[in-house]
Amino acid sequence: MQQVRAVVAKGKGQPVSVETINVPDPGPGEAVVKIQACGVCHTDLHYREGGINDDFPFLLGHEAAGVVEAVGEGVTEVAAGDFVVLNWRAVCGECRACKRGDLHYCFNTHNATQKMTLEDGTELSPALGIGAFAEKTLVAAGQCTKVDASARPAAVGLLGCGVMAGLGAAINTGAVTRGKSVAVIGCGGVGMAAIAGSALAGASPIIAVDIDPKKLEQATAMGATHTVDSSASSGVDPVEEIKRIAAETYEGAEGADVVIEAVGRPETWKQAFYARDLAGTVVLVGVPTPDMKVPEIPLIDVFGRGGALKSSWYGDCLPSRDFPMLVDLYQQGRLDLDAFVSEEIGIDDIEAAFEKMHTGDVLRSVVLFS
Ligand SMILES: NC(=O)c1ccc[n+]([C@@H]2O[C@H](COP(=O)([O-])OP(=O)(O)OC[C@H]3O[C@@H](n4cnc5c(N)ncnc54)[C@H](O)[C@@H]3O)[C@@H](O)[C@H]2O)c1
Ligand SMILES: [Zn+2]
Ligand SMILES: [Zn+2]
Repeated sequence: MQQVRAVVAKGKGQPVSVETINVPDPGPGEAVVKIQACGVCHTDLHYREGGINDDFPFLLGHEAAGVVEAVGEGVTEVAAGDFVVLNWRAVCGECRACKRGDLHYCFNTHNATQKMTLEDGTELSPALGIGAFAEKTLVAAGQCTKVDASARPAAVGLLGCGVMAGLGAAINTGAVTRGKSVAVIGCGGVGMAAIAGSALAGASPIIAVDIDPKKLEQATAMGATHTVDSSASSGVDPVEEIKRIAAETYEGAEGADVVIEAVGRPETWKQAFYARDLAGTVVLVGVPTPDMKVPEIPLIDVFGRGGALKSSWYGDCLPSRDFPMLVDLYQQGRLDLDAFVSEEIGIDDIEAAFEKMHTGDVLRSVVLFS
């Protein structure tokens, strides 16, 4: 067992604090990872606000890269010294999804069996089974995906959650390809990655929608061909605007082929539903809170518009396939992961980073550990 510093959310809505935690030595199937960088994702804030569940205290942080320090008995997939990106889809191989060959849906992803605790022995709930706003964390070995060790930790760590979720929402869930039009509603880290993924896949037009003009400027740099300011003060109806832009390229189009919702709200999901072309696809990658309901939509519209209404869990990624590939694209200069790193911060700066998320000043704040 060893003691390290880590960021803990102790109660609903309470500011996070930096605490000393106990990290057990890795048992069978487990690994201890020395964290180098961990991004601040909106989901961390959801945890702190009690929007995911009530299993406080949470050990926050889950978009991380680091070096394996030690592995437990029987671990063969990684070894001490490996540079890894942590994932929250450690495929179990035994659940219904795995058995039918859909590894990217694994319903029983592995986490460490032992618990990390506060100094007084209180068990911590690591965010998404990771808990990486910590100098070291304990995970299941399958949560460690080995990637090119020369890559920048702050950039590739983001593949561990938000960037992978967005890229995968476009490329995997939405099956975006060249010849398709895409609209992305909500251009935070996740939505921006959906834009980058759509650009990588050759889609056009790529329409970025946000209520914050600062985000729209960045979206253009990420590959958006058009931007739509959907704030109330703009007076623009985003649904009509998406339809108009899609029809400029594809005559007769009644919307975008794929509309990705990356906010997680009923009203933006409804916009996505109606901004989509006939037989098009809606991808919900934003995470709603438990109180939210599907907006009222005539059932005849669901039938009459056809197509697919999908959700994207973690971009339907398979870490062993997608992380090394995306790190390679990054190293080749074909995927600008650096553009997602707005600032590098310290372990004491998480609350300030949450604040910046609200003011729209950052895509990702990334905590660096020395
Ligand atoms: N499905 C997954 O696996 C997965 C993984 C990671 C994160 N997420 C979720 O994705 C969502 C986005 O995460 P993020 O880190 O990018 O958050 P973020 O806070 O950085 O970005 C949200 C963006 O939405 C914009 N926005 C807010 N209200 C809007 C509206 N009414 N219309 C248009 N734009 C609006 C904001 O201006 C901001 O740019 C969150 O709900 C997060 O929990 C999902
Ligand atoms: Zn499984
Ligand atoms: Zn996340």
